[in-house]
Amino acid sequence: MNKPIIISVVNHKGGVLKTTTTANLGAALAALGKRVLVCDLDPQQNLTASLIGLTPYDSNTRTLFDALMDEAGFDDLLRPTSTKGLDLLPCAENFFAAELNLAPREAREFALRTCFEHTKRLSQYDFVLIDNSPSVSLVTVNALVASDFYIVPVSAEYLPLTGLIMLGNCIARFQRKLCPSLKSLGVVLTMYHRSENICRDVERKLQSELGEMLFSTRIRVNTKAKTAPSVQKTIFQFENDREGRGTEDYTELANEVLARVEAATVQPSVMEAANG
Ligand SMILES: Nc1ncnc2c1ncn2[C@@H]1O[C@H](COP(=O)(O)OP(=O)(O)OP(=O)(O)O)[C@@H](O)[C@H]1O
Ligand SMILES: [Mg+2]
Repeated sequence: MNKPIIISVVNHKGGVLKTTTTANLGAALAALGKRVLVCDLDPQQNLTASLIGLTPYDSNTRTLFDALMDEAGFDDLLRPTSTKGLDLLPCAENFFAAELNLAPREAREFALRTCFEHTKRLSQYDFVLIDNSPSVSLVTVNALVASDFYIVPVSAEYLPLTGLIMLGNCIARFQRKLCPSLKSLGVVLTMYHRSENICRDVERKLQSELGEMLFSTRIRVNTKAKTAPSVQKTIFQFENDREGRGTEDYTELANEVLARVEAATVQPSVMEAANG
């Protein structure tokens, strides 16, 4: 059975473009002919709102929360999006309870991985991307345990940069015990504006500390990327222009991701590099 590559998009810092990157990296991979599933594991439901819109919560309808609690497959929950080759595992309002309900369970870090193992349709995909909430919560640990790789978006500002080392330490604390095969795919610099000194400072610092683990792609500041989710469009659909800024940035990132996954790099993890 084909097993997709599973990649978590993580950072405990808020607003660094985790959701935007999950949606548009997913769309970029789909445009390159890959079959992609994006998963919304954030109770804020931003990925779901951005791609298919939110529907009023109905307690009679099975949701991601119910499947996770039952450690059952997600087959009946997967939804197509308006992008060919891009499907969504949506999040519903009751997902906020996942954290508390998982906490007292046995093998609580492995529930999501078990759900994926029971999802027959998973073999239809080449890539699964997981959008996470801005915290290293138990749900995020579940995402990392279920993943082959993780990507860290970091916005070109001082505070998110300092948080990067904390994130590395935090992941390292459980990685050896729970998911030793998890690898960092790299750090992607977002909200980048070449003419701003702080952006170039952060870029230089990341380059010197992370070396090749910093993706060459920069996700540039882009007003259109702010508007696209409000009409449930990816940046590709919204710009509808091969030379659009977001279209170019996310295509470049997808090509880098494909190359790095293929190389299945044996370089030190990005966080080890960050910690010197
Ligand atoms: N290229 C861009 N330039 C400027 N703003 C952007 C860009 N891409 C997305 N945004 C906006 O930045 C904000 C944060 O993006 P996003 O929701 O993806 O971050 P996040 O890390 O997922 O946030 P959270 O931690 O709350 O989940 C959103 O309002 C989004 O519309
Ligand atoms: Mg988000």
